[in-house]
Amino acid sequence: MSIPTSEKRTITLEMSPDVFRDLGYQMVDRVADLLGTLRERPVTPQASIDEIRSALGQRGIPQEGTDAEQILHTAADLLFAHSTFNGHPRFWGYITAPAAPIGILADLLAAGANPNVGGWHLAPVATEIEGQAVRWIAEMLGYEPDCGGLFMSGGNMANIVGVTAARRAKASLDVREQGLRAGDRKLRLYTSKETHTWVEKAADILGLGTGAIRWIPTDDALRMDTTALRQQINADIDAGDQPFLVIGTGGTVSTSAIDPLPELAAICREHDLWFHVDGAYGGFAAMLPDAPADLLGLREADSVAIDPHKWLYAPLEAGCVLVRDAERLRDAYSVHPPSYYHFDDEMANGVNYYEYGPQNSRGFRAFKVWLAIQQVGRRGYERMLADDIGLARSLFAGLEAYPELQPLTQGLSITTFRYIPADLTPGTGVIDAYLNALNEELVSVLQRSGEAFISNAVIGDVYALRACVVNFRTTLEDILDLPEIVLRHGEEIDRRMRPADL
Ligand SMILES: Cc1ncc(COP(=O)(O)O)c(C=O)c1O
Repeated sequence: MSIPTSEKRTITLEMSPDVFRDLGYQMVDRVADLLGTLRERPVTPQASIDEIRSALGQRGIPQEGTDAEQILHTAADLLFAHSTFNGHPRFWGYITAPAAPIGILADLLAAGANPNVGGWHLAPVATEIEGQAVRWIAEMLGYEPDCGGLFMSGGNMANIVGVTAARRAKASLDVREQGLRAGDRKLRLYTSKETHTWVEKAADILGLGTGAIRWIPTDDALRMDTTALRQQINADIDAGDQPFLVIGTGGTVSTSAIDPLPELAAICREHDLWFHVDGAYGGFAAMLPDAPADLLGLREADSVAIDPHKWLYAPLEAGCVLVRDAERLRDAYSVHPPSYYHFDDEMANGVNYYEYGPQNSRGFRAFKVWLAIQQVGRRGYERMLADDIGLARSLFAGLEAYPELQPLTQGLSITTFRYIPADLTPGTGVIDAYLNALNEELVSVLQRSGEAFISNAVIGDVYALRACVVNFRTTLEDILDLPEIVLRHGEEIDRRMRPADL
């Protein structure tokens, strides 16, 4: 074995600064060209799975290296030819935002310095920036400015961290040391069926079991029914169980329903329960001067999950959890200092994020958010969110001109509707089932078409089309074109799918 000397060592992953600069400029050009041509591109890739797999090539691991310039360009070609572009002006599916260009550059800078934001001394300024970004987000929401919090991969993880803090704070046993089996009372958490699916993962991961979830019914507007909530809590207490957590949502994923958060906060105070709000999507709307009063109840929560990769338009991934009392977070995650960590007195004053969340090594997700907030300021965000909401409302209002498009719900920046062929009247089992199948197929066809991307919601028994505008590139013309596109495809599908006897 030959030990490389400093002169002899040839590390194939190293690049000279000149080569890096040259390739970096080329890649920045590629990204700039992509951003400049998004509008002309289809929103979704037009190739089939087989075509994409064959473009990728079914080959084994390369044994030898290849020239970096060549592979970077091939990779850019692949990625730009076969991606679903959430940065397209006509992407209104799910709740995924375009990546703010400053966030794209931020990710490059962050990877350049590569701080490990798990420990202060591994990321001195990055840790301070994360703390500042968390405080800015709290300020935007009107939440406790001295709260704790940290960046996570997204809404799921941010919510799971909130629930972990709740379990630690409210389970009347030392759940960290003894586990849940030590308790003789069953822990119960309360939420509605409109809550995002993360809640089942949380109950499972945290050892509560999905059976611990009490699914509280919703009213006509799909908001949690607080009378039913009170009844269920009381019934569980009478049965000897231990209620510990109520989860409200500030903008549900399907229709943007906002639970009556102030009332949920009051119920939690009455029963000494932890109050968690999933504001992953809608929470940022609390910054608007005309924010719905119910949404402002998130300010009373013990913990809030909020997703900068949704309505702050950060590139994936960026979720964030805020916890009113930072010590609760530390209680939930801090472990004895590992023997291999050495912190001197100066470092001891800094925050070590590994003590506040599940991750040890952590990337610098906060950076892209911190920079974007500076680029546009709070006012800029207020404007963009208000514009998105305005566009979703314009779509809802615009549907009136199309008798075959039935408006269903409108909340924050989500509008739902469905296509009903002129000669069909809903209300009978067979027709309703056909309309659901028709609209389901419509979502598939629209998504594949590449003309616009919408997703779906299921509202009661109705399969609805759903447009969610979290997109600073969308214009009024884009959104007002949608009904015509839907009608064109809807009529074609109806001709193809309608059973002869309907
Ligand atoms: C209300 C709500 N909660 C949680 C999530 C999950 O967030 P993520 O996909 O970032 O994990 C979403 C995603 O759309 C959401 O809308």
